[in-house]
Amino acid sequence: MMVVMMHAVDIHKTFDGVEVLSGIDLTINGGQIVHISGDNGSGKSTLFKILTHLLEPTKGKVSIADDAVKIGAIIENPSFLEFSTAWENLQFLGRLDNGFDAKYTEELLSRFSLDAHDRRPISKFSVGMREKVGIVQAIMAHQNLVFLDEPTRGLDKKSIQTLAAISAEIKNAGGSVVIASHDIVPEIDYDQKYLLEKGNIHHVA
Ligand SMILES: Nc1ncnc2c1ncn2[C@@H]1O[C@H](COP(=O)(O)OP(=O)(O)O)[C@@H](O)[C@H]1O
Ligand SMILES: [Mg+2]
Repeated sequence: MMVVMMHAVDIHKTFDGVEVLSGIDLTINGGQIVHISGDNGSGKSTLFKILTHLLEPTKGKVSIADDAVKIGAIIENPSFLEFSTAWENLQFLGRLDNGFDAKYTEELLSRFSLDAHDRRPISKFSVGMREKVGIVQAIMAHQNLVFLDEPTRGLDKKSIQTLAAISAEIKNAGGSVVIASHDIVPEIDYDQKYLLEKGNIHHVA
């Protein structure tokens, strides 16, 4: 049985007279890992911003199935409080948003080879380490509809495997993980693959 989590109908987005998205229809079902590929500038981040309500579409509608759907996201470069530690950042974001589960957050950090007790400000973190803190932020409140924009950027092999394992756990619990990236990493086992091209989205085999 397919449970629809999100429905996007006829999404258009125009920037400065240029249409970037030209009528995207997309249904996200629970229990799936979805990939959206597309060249740089094809509109992946724009689509994610619209799906997560950070940006209004020029036309079209995004609807969420019900209030059991809890959205988590990392879009483009995650921004942090640069002079605070990773843990302080996560605590802050958790309190702003969906609540903070310290035990689970600590466990997620550790699975990504990060330490909740690391005293360094996040400004000292590498691109891959920041990306992993961003991923933890997107899932630490047990979000069940998770959008990850280029999440493998800077990640080592082991971290990509951790991301694949966590994505499978969310899927097996009935949630969905939607990943946008210009390339496909073989470690992640996708149920649906789409290509964003010239403002439209197509299923790919
Ligand atoms: N806020 C904005 N104002 C103007 N143009 C934008 C804005 N955001 C994105 N664009 C343009 O929309 C197109 C798609 O961008 P983006 O969604 O970031 O692509 P992708 O994530 O696939 O690389 C690009 O041409 C980009 O320059
Ligand atoms: Mg992008």
